[in-house]
Formats: sequence, structure tokens, C-alpha cells
Amino acid sequence: MPVTKVLTEGIGEVDLRSIEVYRKRGGYEQWKRALSSLKPEEVMEYADKSGLRGRGGAGFPTGKKWSFLPKNGKPRYLVCNSDEAEPGTFKDRMLIENVPHLVLEGMLLGAYGIGSHHAFIYIRGEFKDGYQVFARALDEARAAGFVGKNILSSGYDLEVTVHRGAGAYICGEETALLNSLEGKRGEPRLKPPFPAVEGLYGMPTVVNNVETLAYLVPVLARGWEWFAGAGTERSKGFKIVSVSGHVQRPGNYEVPLGTPVRELLDLAGGLRPGRTLKAIQPGGGSSACIFEEQLDLPYDYESLAKAGTMLGSGAVVVFDDTTDFVKAAYNLVRFFSHESCGQCTPCREGGHWLERVLERFVDGRGLRGDLDMMHRVSATITGINLCPLGDSIEPFLKSVLNRFPEQFEARIA
Ligand SMILES: Cc1cc2nc3c(=O)[nH]c(=O)nc-3n(C[C@H](O)[C@H](O)[C@H](O)COP(=O)(O)O)c2cc1C
Ligand code: SF4
Repeated sequence: MPVTKVLTEGIGEVDLRSIEVYRKRGGYEQWKRALSSLKPEEVMEYADKSGLRGRGGAGFPTGKKWSFLPKNGKPRYLVCNSDEAEPGTFKDRMLIENVPHLVLEGMLLGAYGIGSHHAFIYIRGEFKDGYQVFARALDEARAAGFVGKNILSSGYDLEVTVHRGAGAYICGEETALLNSLEGKRGEPRLKPPFPAVEGLYGMPTVVNNVETLAYLVPVLARGWEWFAGAGTERSKGFKIVSVSGHVQRPGNYEVPLGTPVRELLDLAGGLRPGRTLKAIQPGGGSSACIFEEQLDLPYDYESLAKAGTMLGSGAVVVFDDTTDFVKAAYNLVRFFSHESCGQCTPCREGGHWLERVLERFVDGRGLRGDLDMMHRVSATITGINLCPLGDSIEPFLKSVLNRFPEQFEARIA
């Protein structure tokens, strides 16, 4: 199967971190075009008609999100979410480290599209290289006159601020991210009000993922029809999928949405010789597993939701027959429990309890009633929290408890 190259075009072949190379390949042409000949509403129309949906996890239609901004004359902000910490996801990191100008041009277009004069990028604290590469790219773009006051004599002002996180998964959640940007404790806010109405500093704000914003550049360059023509009826365009785990060539693979899961596995070189497939987690740490008999599922938002799981951030983690699912479940539950901000009792206490019970199983000290208890506790944690982190604890655990009960039973003392 041929690899698609849209955002990944040129990565590994030329040094796209340099503004000269980026510009030689058409870089910043869409930004110049927008400033000289497109109204903000027209950029918004591209986003909307392309069918582009958020690539950060929820898959919300980008144009629709922008349309929620109230027309109340208040300053508006665009925030690029580069906090990428979902287990198994490493595509935003690749983008900011390798094509920072593409991400920046996408941010400029997005900010212009919503009528914002100040855009922010929140970069995960651990992405030291990504931060440095992006900050350098921003300096280059400012020196070239693409950022700042009266850009290219258009009369449009747009400032960009780079902010580094401090290593908290929860700060990827958009309202926790906004709190963190404001210098407050990074914990989710109660919604409503949604960020579109009351976001950063209480102003109308759009938070979009790195990959989402980067796709604006090719959408403008090649037309919304081109983007909408790829993918499926409701999951349009392309997606960078991070494939990892028990495959021979883990990495980021860009594909049209709707590509069968089997082909993603093939792109990543398939399983290691002599191994058999046990499970695939298709949408990051928060998603339930799919299994061998579901390999022909199209990799798109609807098909995965129908199968009881989700596409999420586009992280496909492959587990072969060497996997200890008790340890894998413990590992993930421990992660979520550790990253819980503690505001909601079900997430804080439920995660902690499950972690302790699973720890017993890992040590071969599981109790007879624990399996039922884990089912009960994980079910009661879900759906009653302030943010989706609390709901992320159950899906993987439940799917492997149901599929591989013998692995858990064997650890009962
Ligand atoms: C616990 C948690 C962590 C998240 N982490 C990220 C992240 O690292 N990057 C991201 O873009 N979205 C993340 N999200 C989703 C954001 O809240 C938000 O939906 C997204 O940034 C919106 O951008 P999009 O519409 O372009 O997808 C996270 C959500 C939750 C609940
Ligand atoms: S669900 Fe968990 S992480 Fe989210 S706000 Fe509640 S306690 Fe914090």
C-alpha cells in the first residue's frame, strides 16, 4: 500500500526546519494569499467545507467549532495544543520537530480565520527539542515579516506566544491547558462555559490540535474539495497514525481515513516473525481494544465508534502473544491514576483503588472477588467526571478483562 504524504511530505528528505527550504517548497504562500486576497470568513469556509475534524482526540468538526465564537467584539485567541501525552501518540512531536513552519503557518491561518490577533502554542514540557525547533522557526518567521504588526503591509497584526508545559498529561485537556497558560493550577474547568465563549483570560478561544491546524495549509493550497474527496463520507481527509508496540517498523504513517486497520499493521511491517496477534488498542490509552477478527475495520471515527472503541488521537498500539495483559492493564491504570488531577472523587479514588487491586494481580496475590469488583468499580467511575480522563480508566481494562480472563484468573492467590 502506498504511503500518503501530505503533512509528512519531505520529512526525512530535506531540512524543512529551515525557512528557506520551507519557502522554496511553497511555504507561507497560503498565509500570503490569505492576507492579500481572502477574508477571514473565507478561511473559515475552507475549514468547514473540507470536513476537517479535530485530530486531538474528540474528532469535533473544526469549522463548526470556530463558528461557536460569539460576535461580541471581545479579543479572540487561538491556542495550538501541542501537549501530546496520550500513551502511544507521537505525531505532533514529529510535526513540531520536523515541520515547525507548517505548524506555524497553520496556526496563522487558523488565527486569521477566527479573527484573532494573538495565537498561543502550548508545547509539552518534555518536548525540549520540539520547543527549541519551534521557537527558532517562529524567530525566522518574525524576521521574514510573517508574524507581528501590520504583516506584509496587510494591516493585520498577529502575535504568537510559545509556552512550555511542565509535564502533566491533564494539561492536554483544553480547559486545564487554558488554566495552565494563565498561570493557574492545571486542572479542568467545569463546562459550560465552553472555551469558545469564555476561554483564555475569559475571552472567546479556540483550542485546536497541532495536526488539525497543520492540515489547514494543504486544505487552502489544494482546495477543500481535494481534502473532502479523501477518506470516508463522515471522516474526511487524512490522518497521521502513530503505530507502536509489537510491530517491526513502529512509526508515524499518514493515511486516508477509512484505511483498513490491517493495512496500518502492514505499513508498520507487521508482527515480529513467529508471533500472533492478540489485541490492538486503536485510539490511544483511553480506547478499548479490538481483536484479530476486526482487522478489516476501516480506520475512521464512525467505524471504530460502532465497534465500541474510538479513533482518539490516532495511536495504534499492537499487542502480540507475548503480552502480559495483567501488567499492561496495571501500567495504563497506574498512568491514569497518577495523572488524575484529583478534583473528582470517582476518577481520583476509583483509579487509585483499581491500581492497588491490579498491583495485587501483578504480584499473583489477586483475591477471588477482585474480578467482579474491578468490573463494578470501573463501570461506576465512568460518565460522572468533570473531564474525559476519568472515563479513560475503564475501556482498556474492561476489554482485556473480558477477552483474556484466564490471564487474570491465573494470578488469583
Ligand atoms: C486528559 C486529556 C488529555 C488531552 N490531551 C490532548 C493533547 O495532548 N493534545 C490535543 O490536541 N488534545 C488533547 N486532548 C483533547 C483536548 O481537550 C481538545 O479536545 C483538543 O485539543 C481540541 O483540538 P482539536 O479539535 O483540533 O482536536 C486531551 C483531552 C483530555 C481529556
Ligand atoms: S476526571 Fe479526573 S482528571 Fe478530569 S477533572 Fe476529574 S479528577 Fe481531574
